[in-house]
Amino acid sequence: MDSMPKKVLVTGGTGYIGSHTTVELQQAGYQVVIVDNLSNSTDKIVGQIGQITGRAPAFYQIDLCDEAALRMVFREHPDLAGVIHFAAYKAVGESVELPLKYYHNNLVSLINLLQVMQESRVYNMVFSSSCTVYGQPDTLPVTEQSPIKKAFSPYGNTKQISEEILADVATVSDLKVISLRYFNPIGAHESALIGELPIGIPNNLVPFITQTAIGLRPKIMVFGNDYNTPDGTCIRDYIHVVDLAKAHVVAMQRMLRQNMETYMEFFNLGTGKGTSVLEAINAFEKVSGLKLNFEITKRREGDVDKVWADVAHANGKLGWKAEEGLEEMMLSAWQWEQNLKAGIL
Ligand code: NAD
Ligand code: WQD
Repeated sequence: MDSMPKKVLVTGGTGYIGSHTTVELQQAGYQVVIVDNLSNSTDKIVGQIGQITGRAPAFYQIDLCDEAALRMVFREHPDLAGVIHFAAYKAVGESVELPLKYYHNNLVSLINLLQVMQESRVYNMVFSSSCTVYGQPDTLPVTEQSPIKKAFSPYGNTKQISEEILADVATVSDLKVISLRYFNPIGAHESALIGELPIGIPNNLVPFITQTAIGLRPKIMVFGNDYNTPDGTCIRDYIHVVDLAKAHVVAMQRMLRQNMETYMEFFNLGTGKGTSVLEAINAFEKVSGLKLNFEITKRREGDVDKVWADVAHANGKLGWKAEEGLEEMMLSAWQWEQNLKAGIL
């Protein structure tokens, strides 16, 4: 850490990736201010972060669509060095059903944040983007130069539009942006005090696996085994959420040390390794010692058959590399699920 402790605003900081990033930021010596409307998280996470790090972050329950409330936070914290912007809705399927809900929340939040940052002369932003911006890539692994294809969902489109808004603003102002395109974050903190908290039936594979293993769901549906992959099931690049969180600390440091090469940079965050659905299930069975009940069902609409990241740019320029393997990811997700059952929150 550079001499003075730096203060960072983390939007969506009680959420899954935001909470893990807050832990890593605090452990790297940063002070953290969280803004979250708790639409997909709980304020108990603030205490959990405090338990892990010995220091609870400042927390404001505020909706980023409320510009005046956001301005108050910036007035109370005139010493913010930068912002890490996680807050967004992220359910792909729901975004197809309710596009306006997604466009409104994800884009108005970003516009308000940029407006208030400009007024407050806060010029550093790390943005949560997604591999979804690449759609079904023509070549693998996916580099940052891969074309941005028409988005499959309104959710994906909000990430593409957000990146465009950020680029346009950064072109004409002092704003600097690092857009991090995550592949598939899974797992939980080793303390098992924070983790993913899906509300209702999970959309994503790993919470579905852990909820089935704990007895909350009768079985896992494997969405198709007739894809053009070795075992016929889809391939993804799963990355441990703690590795992902650490990349945000490195990105913020890169900005604050003025090491960026241009006003907006993009990095893929993955492991560079593809894993099929069946391999993921096998890895879970191995670390948990349990047999999972699963059934092959039809394909889920909108799924691409395979995608994994080229991580050379992140490894080289950011100086960051994912360290945890699939089994660590699965074990940590399982420990978290067991803690949830034990009533940790
Ligand atoms: P999450 O839902 O756990 O966290 C997002 C947080 O933002 C939640 O706590 C929610 O309450 C908050 N929020 C949403 N809208 C808000 C608003 N208007 N004002 C204030 N707070 C608001 O999701 P996550 O998995 O931690 O994802 C974080 C970011 O990473 C999102 O932008 C998401 O699109 C992106 N992302 C996630 C994944 C993934 O698989 N989890 C992959 C790629 C990108
Ligand atoms: C993984 C694999 C499914 C559930 C999503 C978003 C993406 C990004 C990350 C935000 C796929 C299969 C899943 C199940 C299954 N998020 N599966 N049974 O779709 O790769 O990515 O999260 O930006 O934009 O789309 O992740 O975890 O839903 O699916 O067989 O019950 O598991 O078909 O192959 P996905 P996922």
